[in-house]
Amino acid sequence: MEAIREAIRIERLSKTFSNGRKALDEIDLRVEPGEMVALIGASGSGKSTLLRHIAGFTASDAQPSQIAILGRPIQQNGRIVREVRSIRRDIGFVFQQFNLVNRLSVESNVLIGALARLPLWRRLSGRFPAAERALSMAALNEVGIGDHARERAANLSGGQQQRAALARALVQRARIVLADEPIASLDPESSRRVMEMLRTLNVEHQLTVLVSLHQVDIAMQYCPRTVALRRGKVVYDGPSAALSPALLKKLYGDDARELLEEANAGAIDLADSNANGGDTSAPAQDTESTSTRYAFALNPAHSN
Ligand SMILES: Nc1ncnc2c1ncn2[C@@H]1O[C@H](COP(=O)(O)OP(=O)(O)O)[C@@H](O)[C@H]1O
Ligand SMILES: [Mg+2]
Repeated sequence: MEAIREAIRIERLSKTFSNGRKALDEIDLRVEPGEMVALIGASGSGKSTLLRHIAGFTASDAQPSQIAILGRPIQQNGRIVREVRSIRRDIGFVFQQFNLVNRLSVESNVLIGALARLPLWRRLSGRFPAAERALSMAALNEVGIGDHARERAANLSGGQQQRAALARALVQRARIVLADEPIASLDPESSRRVMEMLRTLNVEHQLTVLVSLHQVDIAMQYCPRTVALRRGKVVYDGPSAALSPALLKKLYGDDARELLEEANAGAIDLADSNANGGDTSAPAQDTESTSTRYAFALNPAHSN
């Protein structure tokens, strides 16, 4: 009988950029199918670099190492495997900088997720089977933006675009979602919705989720497990609930402040823009959740 395979398995992964910067330093990591894991760390700690390696966008140093997706290596010893595209079909991506095709409709953007699964003649015909269109509409409804299916992607708010990216992962029938700071550019209410959607994909669609976050409080709220990076090394891998400010200080030293301050900085920016009348195109702000997050990040009493 076959052993149950990890969704993501990383062994001894290191990455040194050509400028000599060691962005990843002997990373070992296993994520089981169905987990929802936060990847936290101050800027420059290696979160994006790690996610790009997992997706097979970047090759590691040429030393003995491996990344396997659901049991299939995507890169080994500094080489990306030839079948990378086929392995990538299992992975849906959400990035901080929204990665929809602006001039296409929301629906078309989501249908792009189906492309990899369709036979070549279907892709060349330029028309999607009715079943794919139905799946796409169902996914858009599920993430709460079905009403916007015919609009150009460029017209959506940031949070709606992120939810469209999640709908695309559903239509792709991805097994794993890698999300690189998906809420970094969003207001608190949009952030909450995107995180709730990620949780729905995890709980109801059994997708494995690895999401990098700047805000420790969000990791604690949504992800049972947190992996913390510092200077390319895993400095913590365990229950998010155990991440008290004291532990963060121990792990990060002065960087802990930066981690907590970043979450607050967003809230302060938001308050400023509200005071100036705000951005009229932005969805309604949820001031209550702003202040809750603000307090949470600052107040050690909230952690056990
Ligand atoms: N293409 C690159 N060339 C050189 N250095 C890079 C490159 N990409 C990232 N780095 C460096 O690697 C480190 C990790 O970066 P990154 O993965 O973007 O961190 P994070 O996503 O946690 O902010 C940083 O020191 C960054 O400057
Ligand atoms: Mg990054």
